Amino acid sequence: MCGIVGCIGNRSVTPIIVESLKRLEYRGYDSAGIATLNGAEIDITKTAGKISDLENILSLTNDACVGIGHTRWATHGIPSSTNAHPHTDCSGSFAVVHNGIIENFQALKDELTSKGHIFSSDTDTEVLAHLCEDCYNGDLEHAVREALLRVEGSYAIAVISDNEPEVIIAARKDSPLIVGLGDGENFLASDIPAIRKYTNKIIYIDDGEIVRLTRDNVTISTLQGVNVEKTVTIADGSIQDAERGGYEHFMLKEIHEQPKALRETMEDRLCELEGSIDFKELRLLEDEIKNIESITIIACGTSYHAGILGKYALEDLLRIPVKVEYSSEFRYNNFLSGKRSLAICISQSGETADTLAAMNEAKSQGYLTLAITNVVGSTITRKADEILLTKSGIEIGVAATKTFTAQILTLYMFGVYVARLKKLIDVETSRNIITSMKAVPGLIESLLDNISNIEKTSSRICEADCCYFIGRGLSYPIALEGALKMKEISYIKAEGFPAGELKHGPLALITADTPVIAIVPKGKTYYKTLGNIKEVKARNAFVIAIANASDDEIVKYVDSVIKIPDVDELFSPMLAAVALQLLAYYAAKYLGAEIDQPRNLAKSVTVE
Ligand code: M6R
Repeated sequence: MCGIVGCIGNRSVTPIIVESLKRLEYRGYDSAGIATLNGAEIDITKTAGKISDLENILSLTNDACVGIGHTRWATHGIPSSTNAHPHTDCSGSFAVVHNGIIENFQALKDELTSKGHIFSSDTDTEVLAHLCEDCYNGDLEHAVREALLRVEGSYAIAVISDNEPEVIIAARKDSPLIVGLGDGENFLASDIPAIRKYTNKIIYIDDGEIVRLTRDNVTISTLQGVNVEKTVTIADGSIQDAERGGYEHFMLKEIHEQPKALRETMEDRLCELEGSIDFKELRLLEDEIKNIESITIIACGTSYHAGILGKYALEDLLRIPVKVEYSSEFRYNNFLSGKRSLAICISQSGETADTLAAMNEAKSQGYLTLAITNVVGSTITRKADEILLTKSGIEIGVAATKTFTAQILTLYMFGVYVARLKKLIDVETSRNIITSMKAVPGLIESLLDNISNIEKTSSRICEADCCYFIGRGLSYPIALEGALKMKEISYIKAEGFPAGELKHGPLALITADTPVIAIVPKGKTYYKTLGNIKEVKARNAFVIAIANASDDEIVKYVDSVIKIPDVDELFSPMLAAVALQLLAYYAAKYLGAEIDQPRNLAKSVTVE
């Protein structure tokens, strides 16, 4: 996690770095800092808290034209001003910002301490500054290179030194880093939106590469010193995408962007008449995909919940075994893939370390790997055998919303695509699915036009210490996702269960007035879930049903109903998900929580 930024130019960099850090704040927001160089010496300002706290103590009149900045999600050492980056060596001549983890930091720290280096923080990062000091022989790039050859772990770093005030050195291994090319100025950052305001000319830095940045030049070489020619990519996406656009929070904006995100994810891919899905990006792999005999879906958090839905849909359409694994657990899975196994790795950010590690593991076990991600150019896109992009636009709120429904859609499209390749469904069946699919954005729009009831219902949940989400079949992963959204942003204790499992233990948690949110759309599991609703009602729970608009009966069995539009059963999870996102959003708002930046979390989890 953490976000890093650097800038070298002919104008004051402090406001640029602050602005860029604000756009990276979703990556971590427990402390922040900036180091600038005005030719003679390094000036460092850092603090515990958010970028706004840093801004309050910064001198924006500082006219230094070289600088680096950092927003932190603590791994080693508590969030404090001392542990905030940039970190320096003993002499204060080298300043380093770092995203990642130096795994052998303790051994290096012991060695450097025995040589007389004095450490002032609890971080792993500080060893990098002292290593640079130790390795410096008059060439900063050489010192960084030597230092990095000694470290194990992951990093995206930027280093400045008052010995060479006209250069920034940066490097990457397993943590994202891009360079932005300007006119008489150059930038580096953890992602494109951070610097998109200043340039759209981007170079993606790869693992094992080191960058030398001056005002007018950028050179890239490997850690071993071999020069590398890189392609300049023109970034698309507007700066407004990263603005709140009149909404109080990014999360609310992103919930409302779902119809657009889904339409864009479907665009040019649905062939309704032919009843087929056109994934041009998969053409070269068609034969391999056609012969797939099993699938493992690998993901974390919300993406994992999309994966469970994918399992249900893919097993139904393809009649082959589909497993879903948490990325962080995948490597402990003992049985190997068959010859014709596909690993679908889902990560909206494309940077989640657990998922990247699991994908590597899957590759080494012989899986064909397919990544589903929302971020063009992210690490996963460059490591997977093939990729399918969700086209949700940038998602800033830490709580995933529009990317979740787009992941479900993409998995469903993939299911229809493979089913047609394998000739498992006829044109009419796939045409019907595609027709229902196309209707979903419009149905979400009508749901979003009527949210006052959801807002009102959320206040009832806020009165409780805990709440439970239940659902069966396709509604079970939505119960998990509803609970994750609720706990993540409102801090109300929330758990999701398969409705049928309640009586096997969780029912003991239900006391009078406990809110139970039952996802009960019309379909195969309706009556069974109704039975489970009666069980919790018999224990005096306060039951809120997420039910179809045409369900006039449900009101007899529950205390409150949130209606979602009628839709083919396969797609009701997408509508229920939107309702539950809003329920969590309004509960969190009612409680005054920091919705876009919940405590202890970060948007991209780039550490394992
Ligand atoms: O970027 P990824 O999809 O790999 O992220 C996975 C999880 O960290 C993420 O979905 C997380 O659970 C969200 N904050 C949930 O809202």
